[in-house]
Amino acid sequence: MKKLMAANWKMFKTWDEAQATALELVDLAAASLPADREVLVCPPFTSLGAVAEVFAGVPRFFTGGQDFYCREEGAFTGEIAPGMLLDLGASFGLTGHSERRHVIGESDQLVGEKTAFGLAAGLSVILCVGELIEERRAGRVEEVLERQLRIGLAGVPRDIEPKRLCVAYEPVWAIGTGEVAGPGEILEAHAFVRKTLVAIFGDNANEMRVLYGGSVKPSNCAEIIALDNVDGVLVGGASLQGESFSQIVLA
Ligand code: PGA
Repeated sequence: MKKLMAANWKMFKTWDEAQATALELVDLAAASLPADREVLVCPPFTSLGAVAEVFAGVPRFFTGGQDFYCREEGAFTGEIAPGMLLDLGASFGLTGHSERRHVIGESDQLVGEKTAFGLAAGLSVILCVGELIEERRAGRVEEVLERQLRIGLAGVPRDIEPKRLCVAYEPVWAIGTGEVAGPGEILEAHAFVRKTLVAIFGDNANEMRVLYGGSVKPSNCAEIIALDNVDGVLVGGASLQGESFSQIVLA
């Protein structure tokens, strides 16, 4: 299974800025990318085309949308369809990022609809899950992860091609805070995610990638990526510079 080193640029970068960072990343990381790694960048919709153009023809470099809506087309002002992402050259889409859940207010059900719809439309999907700090303090991590996974994956066919479905475990308290989860916390959560995926999808789930996200940086990536059941990372802040993301990609 190839490790997926994914960047989430959130609401940063114009077309020109995105293009420059993508060029720098290819320059720094493409030639020395280990054979068992893939790189994914999820820019804002408005600069996805710039990054896709730079990555075209670069092996194992992919682009993705940070979100999408669960309809093919229609009167859904402000929304983007999976087919539109595919048309720009994107092959991935995120669903259920904590900022979509907790800032924009998306429900588990909507996240589940998007996940199933995106996969059916031909995207590979990274479903993001993770607990709030209050939920961790109350001992509810597994309950929250199980709920987000069960509802988030409810419409996904059991025989889905496993490399097209990833889960990112991103404890909300570790996102953008500099506070990375400890190895014990990551191991425990990832083992639970894997167990739940196996309960839903059977053996197929052992080929699905489980990524860690939350304050991943060049200095901690190698340690995190070496942990059991960690099949990649999803990086926000430290992915915005080509230099620092290339160090993560090659860590
Ligand atoms: P961060 O964000 O790396 O800035 O903590 C991770 C994410 O939101 O995916």
